[in-house]
Amino acid sequence: MPACPTLTTERLVLRPFRDDDVDDLFAVLDTPEVRRWLHLPDRYGRDDAWHQMAMFVGQWALRGTGNWAVEERATGAFVGRAGLHLPEREGWPGLEVGWTLHPDHWGKGYATEAGAEAMRYAFEEVRLEGSPVDRLYSCILPDNVASQAVARRLGMELLEERVLPFFPSAPHGIWSRARAGDGC
Ligand SMILES: CC(C)(COP(=O)(O)OP(=O)(O)OC[C@H]1O[C@@H](n2cnc3c(N)ncnc32)[C@H](O)[C@@H]1OP(=O)(O)O)[C@@H](O)C(=O)NCCC(=O)NCCS
Repeated sequence: MPACPTLTTERLVLRPFRDDDVDDLFAVLDTPEVRRWLHLPDRYGRDDAWHQMAMFVGQWALRGTGNWAVEERATGAFVGRAGLHLPEREGWPGLEVGWTLHPDHWGKGYATEAGAEAMRYAFEEVRLEGSPVDRLYSCILPDNVASQAVARRLGMELLEERVLPFFPSAPHGIWSRARAGDGC
């Protein structure tokens, strides 16, 4: 299984998580804005941020998919996480592309820039059970208009709204985009 690569875009570096990222990742997840939109419970702590990081490192090792730590090239600042997600989770539609950034770095186009590179990598490099990826998904709650806007900028369309078993209190929008040339 290919390890998590380091990728470079115009303004960002997408790189594997390191053990010493835990405080930077927790700083992102501990902001009121991110807590609100990710529906993180009050008890969600630094240890949970470490588990999340370790989960993505493990997912890269097991499946060749996962989120990257995202850094700003100009400053080296840790701006958040973005990339791919294929959890073992009932009802999950398929390989997801997603983004979560520190609010200090919203409004700069970084989520779209990281998401576009994650999509490129998924369609060009990822193999799932030996096959190329034909379609990517994003699971986005209906009131999360900022995330929906990123999905739209990346050429995704809303396929349906569906309650996913891991989050029974509201339906998720299932956004999707097919590999270029395959139609939508
Ligand atoms: C979802 C999230 C990553 C979106 O962040 P964002 O900054 O709005 O999205 P982008 O990085 O694509 O930036 C787009 C904005 O930057 C602006 N922008 C500025 N410079 C830009 C540039 N060079 N290129 C592109 N856009 C640029 C755009 O105009 C747009 O602003 P607008 O929202 O006022 O129209 C962020 O809101 C977040 O982390 N939310 C909490 C976690 C979350 O909900 N994750 C998703 C769960 S489904």
